[in-house]
Amino acid sequence: MRKPMVAGNWKMNNTISDTKKLIDALVLDIGQIADVDVVVCPSFISLAVAKRQSEGSLIRVGAQNLYWKDAGAFTGEVSPMMVRDVCDFVIIGHSERRTLFGETDEGVNQKVKAALAVGLAPIVCVGETLSENQAGLTGEVVSRQVREGLKELTPEQGAALVIAYEPVWAIGTGLAATPEGANEVHRDVIHPILREMFGETVGNGMRILYGGSVTAANAAELFGQSDIDGGLVGGASLKVDAFTAIVRAAL
Ligand code: PGA
Repeated sequence: MRKPMVAGNWKMNNTISDTKKLIDALVLDIGQIADVDVVVCPSFISLAVAKRQSEGSLIRVGAQNLYWKDAGAFTGEVSPMMVRDVCDFVIIGHSERRTLFGETDEGVNQKVKAALAVGLAPIVCVGETLSENQAGLTGEVVSRQVREGLKELTPEQGAALVIAYEPVWAIGTGLAATPEGANEVHRDVIHPILREMFGETVGNGMRILYGGSVTAANAAELFGQSDIDGGLVGGASLKVDAFTAIVRAAL
């Protein structure tokens, strides 16, 4: 059985004091839920406070990005070890990074390897754009992103990471994929590739989250599908009531 996970991707929202308030409220409400892995992913500047405020609870902290080099002259970047200091997870290859900041499958692969090397669990995002979807290219695009992003990993490394399928047209639009449609991609495209790459047991055990307009209203039906193991939640993760309801829907 794959343990459900709900991760909140705060994107570029919340100051340090906003973070403190939000985490305090989450700790009170869902801080002791053990049957769902609950992860919050604030901006770099709020990671330390998120870590501190969540101590003593089961809520874990993730970053939204990292750079693959260990250290050195890379102005503005944050290294895997720096992230590892305060985080257990790191989102890699989010569609906003791919489309707005030029991230490639190759770069995603380098980041995934660098994260794993320091003991961070990557949440690797994949997903097709609206035009790719309309052209019937979903399977092809998602396959390529999974194969290239996870290239050259061992089964042991595969087992340590989580995939998030986030159709780009569903992110922030209020237009989530249908539970059946999302499940089809998880079950018929991603899980078979993971089994092929990492073997039956590891592939089957790897979690695939759905992301893209997950709300308190649609979470239970999405998470009820055979191959949807939880969610990567953007907008709704900024509101205590919505996020806690989504976490409970994963129970
Ligand atoms: P959304 O964002 O829930 O606001 O659609 C999801 C994401 O980008 O991870």
